[in-house]
Amino acid sequence: VAQAEHFEIVDRPLPSPEQGEVLVRNSFLSVEPAMRGWIADIGNYSAAVEIGAVMRSLAVGHVVESHSPDYLVGDALLGWFGWQQYSIGNSGNIIGRIEHSDLPLSLSLGVLGLTGVTALLALTKIGDPKPGDMLVVSTAAGSVGSAVGQIGRMLGCRTVGITGSDEKVALCREAFGYDAAINYRSGDLDAALAATCPDGVDIYFDNTAGSISDSVLRHLATFARIVNCGTASISDWTNWPTGPRVERHLLVKRARMQGFVIFDHMHEWPAAVRQLAQWVRSGQLRYEEDVLEGIEAAPDALAGLYRGENKGKRVIRL
Ligand SMILES: NC(=O)c1ccc[n+]([C@@H]2O[C@H](COP(=O)([O-])OP(=O)(O)OC[C@H]3O[C@@H](n4cnc5c(N)ncnc54)[C@H](OP(=O)(O)O)[C@@H]3O)[C@@H](O)[C@H]2O)c1
Repeated sequence: VAQAEHFEIVDRPLPSPEQGEVLVRNSFLSVEPAMRGWIADIGNYSAAVEIGAVMRSLAVGHVVESHSPDYLVGDALLGWFGWQQYSIGNSGNIIGRIEHSDLPLSLSLGVLGLTGVTALLALTKIGDPKPGDMLVVSTAAGSVGSAVGQIGRMLGCRTVGITGSDEKVALCREAFGYDAAINYRSGDLDAALAATCPDGVDIYFDNTAGSISDSVLRHLATFARIVNCGTASISDWTNWPTGPRVERHLLVKRARMQGFVIFDHMHEWPAAVRQLAQWVRSGQLRYEEDVLEGIEAAPDALAGLYRGENKGKRVIRL
C-alpha cells in the first residue's frame, strides 16, 4: 500500500477556466480503497495515475468562476477533481450538480455517492436479494458494507457483517442493524459462520477476497450469489496470490460469482442517489463518516484505510 512518503504536496498557481469550463473550490476529497489499484502499474479497469500527476479522486465543491452555460457560480458539483484545493471542471470530469441541498455535501462522496450507489446497484443487480435470504457482507462497517447491510435488511434479508474489530462489530449491530456481526481478527471465522448461518449463505457481498472469502465460500447455500465488489485484503497483485480453488464450491452449490464495477452503471447514478437520499431522509439508511482535516492529511489517508482506521466513509475536509 502506498504510504505517506509516496505522495508530495505541491503549490501551483490557480488555474484559469477556459470557455466551457468552471473553477471549483473543493470542500471534500474522497479516499477510496480502489486508489491502491489506480496507482499500481499493473493493469486495472482504469488507466494508472502517472508518477507526478495529481492523485485521481472524486471531490465535491462549489463553482467559484464559470465560463460554462451549464453551471452557475455557487453550484455544488461532484466530479473527478483530484486531491486538490481548486480544480478545473469540464465535461470530461464533472459527474453532476448536487441536487439534495438539504443533506450534507460530503454525503455525495459516500452514502449518496460512489459507495452508496455501488452498494445499492451491486446488491440488487448481482446479489438478487429475496426476503429471507442470508446475506453476508465483508468490510461490513465500511462505507459500501454498511449500506449493503442496511439495504439488504430493508429488502428482507437476514444480515451478517464481517469486520476487523470489536468496536466495529458493535457499530454493525447497533448502528447498521446487522442481525449478527463477526470480528474476523478474533477467533475462528469458520465456526462463527457455521453458528450464524446454519442454513448457509445465499448472498455473499465480497469486499475483501482472500482468507475471509475462502471461509465464506465454505458456507454457501445452494444457488448462492457472490457479488465480487472489492479485494481489500489482497495488498499486491504483482505477485498474484493463490488460494483454495473455488470451482468445486460453485459447482456443488450451483453458485454464481460475478464482478461489479460501478463505472458500467453511471447512467443509473442519478436515480440511485434519489432513492438513497430518500432512505437517508427517512432515517432508514444510516451512515458514518471518518473525516480527516486538511490537504495535509491526504498523503497518509490511503494507508490508514488499509490499517482499518476508518469507521464509515473516509473523506478529507478542506
Ligand atoms: N466495484 C466497485 O465499483 C466498487 C466501488 C466502491 C468500492 N468498492 C470496493 O468496496 C470495498 C469497500 O470500499 P469502501 O470505500 O466502503 O471502504 P471501507 O470499507 O470504508 O474501508 C476499507 C476497509 O477495508 C478493510 N480492510 C483493510 N485492510 C483489510 C485487510 N487486509 N483484510 C480485510 N479487510 C481489510 C477495513 O475494514 P475492517 O476494519 O473491517 O477490516 C477498512 O476499513 C473496497 O474493496 C473497495 O475497493 C468497489
